[in-house]
Amino acid sequence: MEYTEQVMDHFMNPRNMGDMEDASGVGTVGNAKCGDIMRIYIKVENDVITDVKFKTFGCGAAIATSSKATEIVKGMTLEQAEQVTNKMVMEALGGLPPVKVHCSVLAEEALHAAIQDYRAKLEKGEAPEAEEEEVRYV
Ligand code: FES
Repeated sequence: MEYTEQVMDHFMNPRNMGDMEDASGVGTVGNAKCGDIMRIYIKVENDVITDVKFKTFGCGAAIATSSKATEIVKGMTLEQAEQVTNKMVMEALGGLPPVKVHCSVLAEEALHAAIQDYRAKLEKGEAPEAEEEEVRYV
């Protein structure tokens, strides 16, 4: 299996990996194909994603695509971030082997879940804080 240099770089030196204590929203999704799990935290100020972190039990391709996705969405408005797809992230990394495409879906879905979580909290007027929630498999 061939990985591009960009994929290897993000796999070996992941950007924005870790926890976030004061997250505005958190999204956790599982991959229906392999069972791996991804969590993304976002910090939102004035509708802009000012910080983003990810944690995953996924494989190297999941790590690389999440790392790239966090890099792409940092500084974007929520609306812009919602338009980011796994395809865009894969293209930014120079592509993935076909059997690994499903891994790249995790970052997109977890990001969208984190944005939904933030919006739901905002509507309910709840204090934005990260909490454990059920894993949805995508
Ligand atoms: Fe599960 Fe890649 S094999 S995320």
